[in-house]
Amino acid sequence: MSRLDYVIVLAAGEGARMKSVSTPKVMHTIAGRSLISHVLSAVEKLSPTQIRVVVGANREQVESHLQEIAPTAVSIFQERRGGTGHAVQIALADTSATGTVLIVAGDTPLLSSQTLRQVVDAHTKGGFAATVLTAELPDPTGYGRIIRADDGELLRIVEERDAAEFERDIEEINSGVYVFDLAKLRSAISKITDSNSQHELYLTDVVQILRKAGERVVPILTPDFVEILGVNDRVQLAECAAIMRDQINDLHMRAGVTLIDPTTTWIDASVTLAADAVIHPGTALSGTTSIATEAVIGPRTTLIDCEVLAGAKVIESYCRGAVIGENASVGPFTYLRPGTVLGSETRAGSFVEMKNAQLGFGSKAPHLSYLGDVTIGEGSNIGAATIFANYDGENKHHTEIGDHVRIGSDSVIVAPVSIGDGAYTAAGSVITEDVPAGAIGVGRAKQRNVLGWVMRRRPDSLSARAAAQSESETPANSPTSTSEKGKPTP
Ligand code: UD1
Ligand code: CA
Repeated sequence: MSRLDYVIVLAAGEGARMKSVSTPKVMHTIAGRSLISHVLSAVEKLSPTQIRVVVGANREQVESHLQEIAPTAVSIFQERRGGTGHAVQIALADTSATGTVLIVAGDTPLLSSQTLRQVVDAHTKGGFAATVLTAELPDPTGYGRIIRADDGELLRIVEERDAAEFERDIEEINSGVYVFDLAKLRSAISKITDSNSQHELYLTDVVQILRKAGERVVPILTPDFVEILGVNDRVQLAECAAIMRDQINDLHMRAGVTLIDPTTTWIDASVTLAADAVIHPGTALSGTTSIATEAVIGPRTTLIDCEVLAGAKVIESYCRGAVIGENASVGPFTYLRPGTVLGSETRAGSFVEMKNAQLGFGSKAPHLSYLGDVTIGEGSNIGAATIFANYDGENKHHTEIGDHVRIGSDSVIVAPVSIGDGAYTAAGSVITEDVPAGAIGVGRAKQRNVLGWVMRRRPDSLSARAAAQSESETPANSPTSTSEKGKPTP
């Protein structure tokens, strides 16, 4: 591996075409990471001695982001946009270092470390003054054009707005990735001027300065132009995101993961999947999410920072910060929130929301419930439409449920409360006190029937007619037969 002393990442432009009021261009994300973070992670794999990032617009935001993603990178402030040449002048101003420098833009997220490595290696091996990564684009609009000399080496790079008609027809463009001999770059860059249509200092002008000085400047044509695509607006952001999505999905499929519909499956670069996981359409996996073997996810499921263990199924659900145990079943239409830990063979069924809920082996909440701040033992069942009332308006409280508990349907469990092993609660109960092991907690009004109420109070209604009909059909002295006055018919 050739030695790489410096990397300069140009990221001072304001990214006006993104039309963003709050987010600097290089901080927009694809595959769950910022554009600049993709660039830096490719660059870091080359183990350069130092990385310098030129920042300008939204400096504070970009710098604090850099602190998080690449704490060893040094940021250099470019106060006003003076052009790419100006940015490099500033980046080199306080160093007398020599050696090899790689220059890339912060808005080209698809660059791979392999390609960067190839350019650095070719440069070092050839002993060139400069090496420029080029590409042939079906539509070269907007890029600088590569003017080659008869010997195939680089004569100069001309920006589109400064190019003559015949130069615009050239399909080979400047990718914006360069490797320079640092000492030669430093001397050439002091000679560039702003005599161009933008009155900026162009880094690209060093090419012809070096060439005129008899130095070798060599273009390297990339076989895969996709890598050099840059993001200048939201259309290009979406294009690059789709390309990276396909790249990530291909890797997973080749490693044994089934993606039923890769075009609607969005997996962040940070996510891990084991072989034989199956992902159904419309699924997004992000953050630290990991999916174990034989797990089945989707359709239409979003998992953020979740751990899904082997054989679990998650259908039509939205989950963040949850652990989903072996062979557990989640969904359809389930919302799992942070702190939720589903043990093996558990179930979080449809229209169930859980927050900080821990379910032991085989426990289930199959339908229409809210489980907040609760620890449940093994083999317990939470009846449909149970609410764990964990919030008293000011504080959150915790509930403990033992093993093999049966919570009746439509219960409200008012925390803090604890329900012992094997206990039951009656359907429709409001449980405000502990229920000891083996007891049934009944927390509801006793039912009373007001006989004949419908005939008296809704005399002409369809209900009254149906009741009268039923009465006439019911044999006398049947216990359900009642007179209008609520007394059994004689
Ligand atoms: C530049 C190249 C062009 C090439 C294209 C590849 C020049 C003059 N032109 O054009 O030949 O085809 O990239 O994508 O270099 N920046 C600064 N400070 C500045 C100006 C720019 O840091 O004063 C940064 C930008 O944030 C960006 C990068 O440099 O990351 C390139 O600048 P940009 O304005 O996008 O240049 P292009 O017009 O795309
Ligand atoms: Ca650009």
